[in-house]
Amino acid sequence: MTQPSGGHAAKVIAVTVAAAVGGFLFGFDSSVINGAVDSIQGNFGLGDFFTGFVVAIALLGCAVGAWFAGELADRWGRKKVMLLGSALFVISSVGSGYAFSVPDLMLWRVIGGLGIGIASVIAPTYISEIAPARYRGALASLQQLAITIGIFAALLSDAVLQNAAGGPSNDLWWGLEAWRWMFLVGVIPALVYGILALLIPESPRFLVGKNLDREAAQILANITGELRPNERVHEIRLTLRHESTRSFGDIRGPRFGLQPLVWVGIIMAIFQQFVGINAIFYYSTTLWKSVGFSENQSFTTSVITSVINVGMTFVAILFVDRIGRRILLMIGSIGMFVSLLLAAVAFSQAVGEGENVELPSPWGAVALVGANLFVVFFAATWGPIMWVMLGEMFPNRMRAVALGLSTAANWLANFTVTLAFPPLTSTVGLWFLYSLFAFFALLSFFFVRAKIPETKGMELEDMHA
Ligand code: GLC
Repeated sequence: MTQPSGGHAAKVIAVTVAAAVGGFLFGFDSSVINGAVDSIQGNFGLGDFFTGFVVAIALLGCAVGAWFAGELADRWGRKKVMLLGSALFVISSVGSGYAFSVPDLMLWRVIGGLGIGIASVIAPTYISEIAPARYRGALASLQQLAITIGIFAALLSDAVLQNAAGGPSNDLWWGLEAWRWMFLVGVIPALVYGILALLIPESPRFLVGKNLDREAAQILANITGELRPNERVHEIRLTLRHESTRSFGDIRGPRFGLQPLVWVGIIMAIFQQFVGINAIFYYSTTLWKSVGFSENQSFTTSVITSVINVGMTFVAILFVDRIGRRILLMIGSIGMFVSLLLAAVAFSQAVGEGENVELPSPWGAVALVGANLFVVFFAATWGPIMWVMLGEMFPNRMRAVALGLSTAANWLANFTVTLAFPPLTSTVGLWFLYSLFAFFALLSFFFVRAKIPETKGMELEDMHA
């Protein structure tokens, strides 16, 4: 196997970063609604259920976008699909900013969701296809790093715009309220994404599939510094020929209609959501307010949590290619289980009725520690590694389609938790929900131990083994 020189490493990182901007948009566009949600509720006179629905509906768009992205990426190429994603992001940001009614807003959010879904599939596909095996885990983790930075940026941008206007529902510029600007500023990263997509080379593995071997070899030599690019192209071609699978018909298998490996991808994607990570990222401010923290304390906690989320992703980047995926996932499962349980116990101590629930000290502190420790473990393991694995674990021929399917499952699971969280909080209680999340974390441990293969350092061409 050949390794890139320093100059090539810089090129690989540059094209990876370009693809990972899709991750930034994923994080930004999925959480930007947080700062706007109260104003939207006020502006359009929404009840609780519909408010949750406006937040969650984009996630359905994500699932649909992810589902089709795989097929489109195989048909049109990775670059064109990125351009489509960029266009959808621009349209959705402008549309949401100018929305005049709730159905209108939902429509634009769904369109943005399509873009997020596309970005969430195309970044891991493209990165794993262009990265040399030795650094693939670290490079693919950059996508999650970009997601976490996107979440943080959205929180910050919402806060800045709200402060500039003196409140989210106040007019800011050109007679538009601050909450509208929260969406409108999303146009900037969306355009950056589109421009970068124009500049990066097409994935060599896609080109080989289209019989463009010479172009593929050139890109492998120029970007990843392959010393024997023609041999590599030949290997890619062999796997494309040998692996019998092609598009949906062929990921079918004996187990409930799908190949076992595809099931592993789908279940892993569902576990990543069922530990309840987005109950924190979409609702944390509301969550902390609901157990007696002040508005300011709750917002500060959210900011701290999202900084932890960014910082801990570096741990994964450092260790994923050294320790391996499996061990990190197992450590993550156990860590999440313990911290979620801690949070559950703390929440079970809450006293009061209806909106006036309170966590007596020291249980408030325990809940905060538990929830943030959970983010520590998630961000260092399951957050990035699930995306790394989905990008690399499927054989070349079925990668794009199987990844699309697993990612769609991730978004549907996210939708389920996001929609169910507010009503379940008030019926079964936070302690019960967090025990459930802890239970899923524990199950995920046994799932990894039994089913997940180690893919560290392997060439994508060897994945069919
Ligand atoms: C992962 C999850 C995503 C979540 C994020 C938090 O990317 O897939 O749903 O919002 O981590 O950092």
